Amino acid sequence: MIFVAATVFVFAAHLYPAPPPISHDAVLVDRQYSLTLYVTGAAFVLAQLGLAWAVLRYRDHGQKARFVRGNVALEIVWTSVTLLAFVGLGILGRDAWAGARFTPAAPDAIQIEVTTNQFVYTFRYPGPDGKFGRLDPSLVSAPAGNPLGIDPNDPAGRDDIVLASLTVPVNHPIELLVRSQDVIHNFFVRELRLQQDAVPGMLIPVHFAADRIGTYDIVCTQLCGLGHYKMHSLLNVVSQSDYDAFLKRQALVQ
Ligand code: CUA
Repeated sequence: MIFVAATVFVFAAHLYPAPPPISHDAVLVDRQYSLTLYVTGAAFVLAQLGLAWAVLRYRDHGQKARFVRGNVALEIVWTSVTLLAFVGLGILGRDAWAGARFTPAAPDAIQIEVTTNQFVYTFRYPGPDGKFGRLDPSLVSAPAGNPLGIDPNDPAGRDDIVLASLTVPVNHPIELLVRSQDVIHNFFVRELRLQQDAVPGMLIPVHFAADRIGTYDIVCTQLCGLGHYKMHSLLNVVSQSDYDAFLKRQALVQ
C-alpha cells in the first residue's frame, strides 16, 4: 500500500517530468503513454479492490470450506477484456511507434548515417554530392582519421562529412540510418521520445522532424560495455540558414 501510494504520488505530482516533446511523434508517444498509464492504473485499482473484496467476503468465520471448479463465463469475460485492452492499446499506439519506422521518410528527408561503436557516436552526411561513399570494414581506423572505413577510391565518399555530433535543421524531416560496428548500442533522445537500437549487421532507418531549436542529449541505452555510462553525443537543432552555413563550413573542413 505504501509503495503504491509513493509510486502514484511520483507520477501525480510530476516530480520527475519528462522534458517537453520537440516533435509531433513525441507528442503522440506522450499521449499513448498517459493513456496506457490510465488504463493499466484503472485495471490495477479494480483488481486490488476485487482482491480486497474476496479476502473480506470469504474470510474465515467458522464456515465449511467449499470447492469451486471455476466459472467459464467469467473466464471468457476477463480474458476478452484483457485481450481487448492489450490489442486496443497496441492499435492506438501504432502511429506513435510505427510512424517513425514502418512508414517511409518524406522524399525530401535529409539522410544522415549514425554509426555506433564502443563508446562513441559517429555521424556521416553525404556531402554536396548527396551520396554516401562506400564503406570498407578493413579500413576502419579511428587513429588514422577514418573511424567509419570510408573507401578513398570511391569518389562518392570524398566529400562525406564525418562528425561526432548531430546537427539538423528545425522542422525538416530527417532520416537516420542507424548502424553498429561492434555490439548492440542505442540512439536515444528524450525530447524526441525516439529510441532505436543499433544492431551490428543491420542498417536501421528511423525518421523524425524536430520542431524546436536547441541542444539535446543523445545517449546510449543498451548496456554495451564498461564505457556505456559515458556513451553520449549531442543533437543540435538549428535554423535552416544556420544549417546551410554549417554544411558549407563542414564541406570546407573535410
Ligand atoms: Cu553503447 Cu551503451
